[in-house]
Amino acid sequence: MRDLAPAKKDLDPIEIASRDEIAALQLSRLKWSLGHAYANVPHYKKSFDKADIHPGDLKSLSDLKNFPFTVKSDLRDNYPFGMFAVPREKVARIHASSGTTGKPTVVGYTKHDLDVWADCMARSMRAAGTRPGDIVHVAYGYGLFTGGLGAHYGAERLGCTVVPVSGGMTTRQVTLIEDFKATTIMVTPSYMLSILDEYRAQGLDPRESPLQVGIFGAEPWTNAMRAEIEQAFDMHAVDIYGLSEVIGPGVANECVETKDGLHIWEDHFYPEIINPQTGEPVADGEMGELVFTSLSKEAFPIVRYRTRDLTRLLPGTARSMRRMEKITGRSDDMMILRGVNVFPTQIEEQILKVKSLAPHFQIELWRDGRLDCMTVHVEAAPGQASGDQRKAAASALQERIKEVVGVTVIVDVTEPEKVARSQGKAQRIVDNRPKA
Ligand code: DLL
Repeated sequence: MRDLAPAKKDLDPIEIASRDEIAALQLSRLKWSLGHAYANVPHYKKSFDKADIHPGDLKSLSDLKNFPFTVKSDLRDNYPFGMFAVPREKVARIHASSGTTGKPTVVGYTKHDLDVWADCMARSMRAAGTRPGDIVHVAYGYGLFTGGLGAHYGAERLGCTVVPVSGGMTTRQVTLIEDFKATTIMVTPSYMLSILDEYRAQGLDPRESPLQVGIFGAEPWTNAMRAEIEQAFDMHAVDIYGLSEVIGPGVANECVETKDGLHIWEDHFYPEIINPQTGEPVADGEMGELVFTSLSKEAFPIVRYRTRDLTRLLPGTARSMRRMEKITGRSDDMMILRGVNVFPTQIEEQILKVKSLAPHFQIELWRDGRLDCMTVHVEAAPGQASGDQRKAAASALQERIKEVVGVTVIVDVTEPEKVARSQGKAQRIVDNRPKA
């Protein structure tokens, strides 16, 4: 793999500014953002008033902890445009996330917001090792989902040649990567695995592909999966994080030179980690729920948004801005099996250690009487699918999960191609327990 670290001179100066400079910028922007939300969004006026707090009460960054949280249901209650802080005519773009139940969450952007977003995405891609002039294959879905268009405008801003393929039609994905000689691909890690299978199905050696950088996100994935993809394609695999409510992709990104967690673009998004039970902020380094406040957004300012994503904050390395550790999972993805907390990422890690298994899996939850049970459906690797091989792989995985994660699960090793594939975010959990 080539050394693709960007030169210092090509970074935005704030990426390597002193912590004092960053904090000063954050404080002035935070004052503006809270005032803007309070003055223009009835929901924030109501929630601040109810908590008996006013934007003027914020004197230091740590005062933010006194402001109320915003949660997903607040956005639903104000569907569709009630959280906008500018007249609708000033909103240049709408995105929405589907959500598993009920109405989608709608977000809006002014022209300036779109500009900031493109800048953050360009910065993310540069951190990942993409350079002006590169050919960028965007296989995140285009549409209301922020992945496709977010990546698209970021790549244009960085000065790349964009190939806006969107998700699906996997055969064609491979053809276009090969014919156009894409050097960067942006796609969910689970869909990248389908692209990998397609390379092999077409008899192509993925290590000979033109790809040098993959910018993978929109769902949790592990360092074990990184190693698998990097090895298979002989490319850098870098993590990108974001969510529609905060802006979309490009809230945080790993740097290719360190790959040690994601630097948060703290000049635009202020992070906190809280104890999800008590709501109290925890110190940097401690695990908890990630909370974001936007610092510069006009159309859709967001104050202390509870993401449900679990991680911890770490000091900056390749940049001055703080890092968030790769996300373990969402609090809503946490399964509790006989008192033990289990995340799909923990299962993924163990699957990748059993060489006779392919990295395609789905977790089924079901009930036996009053007991919750878990079956891990996972595919045998090609050439490892005889009855005996599958049986051996199943017991190897079952033992590992018992030993490392601490739960007893049933493992169903299927033949190749039997587990549902994703063309975007993978659905890792299928809950077949009777509804209460
Ligand atoms: O998934 C934005 C995005 C698009 C990020 C493309 C990266 C790449 P939403 O659909 O609103 O937005 O979903 C946001 O996805 O709260 C996390 O739970 C999860 N997520 C996003 N990136 C990562 C990541 C986009 N790198 C939700 N690791 C978030 C783990 C991620 N989870």
